[in-house]
Amino acid sequence: MTNSRKCGIIGCGSVGAAAAYTLATHGLFSELVLIDMNQKRAHGEAMDISHGVSFSQPCRVMDGDYDDLKDAAMVIIAAGVGQRPGESRLDLLTRNAAVMRSIITEITRVCPDAILLIVSNPVDLLTGIALRISGFPSERVIGTGTVLDTARLKFLLGQKLGVDGRNVHAFVIGEHGDSELAVWSSANISGIDLDDYCIGRGLSDDFSGLFESVRHAAYEIIEGKGATYYGIAMSVLRIATCIMRGEHSVLPISCYAEGHYGLGKVCIGLPCVVGRGGVETVLDIPLSPDEMQQLHRSAETLQNALDQLQL
Ligand code: 2OP
Repeated sequence: MTNSRKCGIIGCGSVGAAAAYTLATHGLFSELVLIDMNQKRAHGEAMDISHGVSFSQPCRVMDGDYDDLKDAAMVIIAAGVGQRPGESRLDLLTRNAAVMRSIITEITRVCPDAILLIVSNPVDLLTGIALRISGFPSERVIGTGTVLDTARLKFLLGQKLGVDGRNVHAFVIGEHGDSELAVWSSANISGIDLDDYCIGRGLSDDFSGLFESVRHAAYEIIEGKGATYYGIAMSVLRIATCIMRGEHSVLPISCYAEGHYGLGKVCIGLPCVVGRGGVETVLDIPLSPDEMQQLHRSAETLQNALDQLQL
């Protein structure tokens, strides 16, 4: 049994700390346990956030160690190194895979019934490593996947089309990284096919530059401020809320994709129905032949990187 009000956050760098702050201010959990190799850092973040919860909602934010994760319903893993300017997410694999292995060993010991939400990059591969090492059922090992990329696409499309991004329905799927793809074939604005919407309003339906902005967003943010953390922290909040409130929302998280789209044993960003137990259904949304080819190419990119790691 797990305590549905308790969540652990492993890694109190900019992403983990932003996630802790965002979760604390939204009152999704009443107990957050912050763990970091740098215990002073975890302590400082816990203190800093705790001093503000009286303005928000009661939430016990504490720094601790793995034994404090006992009965946590969810463990969010944001530990490891982030991209330096010009580095790809895949470049982080060797360093962060080692970190992930040590973390998962501890988590399986203290909270074997928790749902794991992997944030560290390369998130798809680290989700697969967490799944393999933990031995947890695949529905309970989730990565943030292309949730943030999809949010970026919806935001930019909304800006271009003059509509609320929440009414733009389009997914980015595949690797959370350079090989990701937008599913243009089913993109729509409240049911109006995207191309028809643009033609009807005399707008260009050339979105190649816009999608490049999505794919390149993290690099641009990192160039500007050294790291990204608010967008990904809000993505964590969205996914955690969907799980803990049992919303059955469709989110493009990183999930174990075997048997879908002809993919093999890979974790990759695909639209899934997500609820209290984690992944409820992987949705096989229709893809054009070109989109299917891009998805397979993305999966191959991930597999090749993993093969390099195991060499
Ligand atoms: C992002 O896309 C770096 O994966 C992180 O913002």
